[in-house]
Amino acid sequence: MTPTAPGVEQITVRKCESIEEFRACVALQKEVWNFDDVDLVPLRLFVVGQKIGGQIIGAFDGKELVGFAFSVPGARTGHSYLHSHMLAVRGAWRNHGLGRRLKLAQRDDAVRRGFELMEWTFDPLEIKNAHLNLVRLGAIARRYSVNHYGDSSSPLQGGLPTDRLVAEWWLKSKRVVNLIDCGEAPRIDAEKSIAVPAEIYAWKASATERHKAAEVQKRNRQEFLQAFPHGLAALGYERDAAGNGKFLLGRWDETWSYGPGTEEK
Ligand SMILES: CC(C)(COP(=O)(O)OP(=O)(O)OC[C@H]1O[C@@H](n2cnc3c(N)ncnc32)[C@H](O)[C@@H]1OP(=O)(O)O)[C@@H](O)C(=O)NCCC(=O)NCCS
Repeated sequence: MTPTAPGVEQITVRKCESIEEFRACVALQKEVWNFDDVDLVPLRLFVVGQKIGGQIIGAFDGKELVGFAFSVPGARTGHSYLHSHMLAVRGAWRNHGLGRRLKLAQRDDAVRRGFELMEWTFDPLEIKNAHLNLVRLGAIARRYSVNHYGDSSSPLQGGLPTDRLVAEWWLKSKRVVNLIDCGEAPRIDAEKSIAVPAEIYAWKASATERHKAAEVQKRNRQEFLQAFPHGLAALGYERDAAGNGKFLLGRWDETWSYGPGTEEK
């Protein structure tokens, strides 16, 4: 339980409904990523996203927005899907399951509206996000995008290229249904692992040690880019007691796919 929190069970997760609530999302985005204004997703895109079938789902402490998830509809090889562009939880509220609750609310809404797939990108150097995405939500990753957004003004990026893995969340897959609806973790026969040291956060934040983070990024980029064309996917993630992370790559035994996804190279 956070010291500043009245209780995480009092947090309501629901759709944002007004311009004021979208404005609060923009403000929280600024607080969480600390982007320059030019990199911020503006209010108008939240309005558009909601009107064209996307999702703006908030976590509210009373009237105060403490987290949100934002997605827009996409299309590939004739299929509609949702691309979740942002997930944010205010610092004081983190690690109490709100990120997961926001994603589950996205899933409920998506399934209700007939979607099978939600995708988003995440930084493969972020150990926490990899754990949340692969282990707690059951997403998989089998595409790697080099310097996806170009340069970023967010300090979270630590001045590194914006390399991203594409998370695919197949909402009705055995893997996701078993995990989320029945609490059964998938069995993974790992053929390869890719390691991320716990020090990565400190290295990214330090001007003198950033080169070490850049070396890990470069090494791991090569490993992912070599592994994915051979049919491997990131299916699992392990953390050790020291906080080091490790992607587990294996072959996914399900056939969900909307084509090659050639737009990410
Ligand atoms: C990513 C984010 C939304 C997650 O929100 P959250 O409410 O903290 O997430 P949850 O509490 O649901 O889950 C976090 C999980 O990571 C784990 N975790 C926390 N710190 C960790 C760390 N340093 N290393 C590995 N795992 C960690 C938590 O234990 C929890 O896992 P568990 O449920 O198995 O215990 C939040 O950290 C955030 O806003 N980050 C900045 C923005 C960002 O990176 N967004 C995502 C990319 S778009």
